[in-house]
Amino acid sequence: MASAVGLFCTCFLVFLASMNGLADAGRVFKVGDELGWQEPGGNNTAVYSQWAERNRFQVEDSLLFEYKNDSVIQVDKWGYYHCNTSKPIVAFNNGRSTFNLDRPGPFYFISGASDHCRNGQRLIVEVMGMHHQRSHSPPSIANPPEYNLAPSPQPSSGAVVSVRLVSVLVVVLATLETLLLSS
Ligand SMILES: *[C@@H]1O[C@H](CO)[C@@H](O)[C@H](O)[C@H]1NC(C)=O
Ligand SMILES: *[C@@H]1O[C@H](CO)[C@@H](O)[C@H](O)[C@H]1NC(C)=O
Ligand SMILES: *[C@@H]1O[C@H](CO)[C@@H](O)[C@H](O)[C@H]1NC(C)=O
Repeated sequence: MASAVGLFCTCFLVFLASMNGLADAGRVFKVGDELGWQEPGGNNTAVYSQWAERNRFQVEDSLLFEYKNDSVIQVDKWGYYHCNTSKPIVAFNNGRSTFNLDRPGPFYFISGASDHCRNGQRLIVEVMGMHHQRSHSPPSIANPPEYNLAPSPQPSSGAVVSVRLVSVLVVVLATLETLLLSS
């Protein structure tokens, strides 16, 4: 009886572990970590490029911008280098904005305040494709357009998970049967 319960618990843990593996797919990166999204002080103008270099971004990850009295504007490369918001792709000013990295390639963000942008409040994030593991991907311009289609999860890992689920179910049923027979 006790061993049946133990078996059940073990199976449940295995089940949770496989769920954790799936949840890994989309991580949330808080931009700037503790600093958040704000005009960097003094000689700290490289703070957001250093932050981006410390992280590896993949398709389906997302960025969380936290800020006060400011804004975050997604722009093209030209807008990024000129701190010019005249052609925004997406603009937020709600203080807590989440942006989904839904394709490989570069994403450019600047503050809506042009002096903030010029003082270093701007960010380039280079997103790797699903199948590019921890290596550096080439600039997205070199990627063929069909590469931008959202990649589906690797079929092999999906199959492994469903096999695991089936075996968990089988063992759970067997456990229930044991419990019924012994009572
Ligand atoms: C700026 O640079 C000076 C000299 O290099 C240094 O003493 C100071 O701590 C720096 N300030 C910040 C905010 O990093
Ligand atoms: C917010 O921005 C406005 C306009 O730029 C400014 O007058 C105000 O002092 C700012 N408030 C804070 C808390 O920074
Ligand atoms: C931004 O660029 C446009 C041209 O695309 C220009 O008319 C405008 O003056 C620029 N704004 C700033 C603040 O430089």
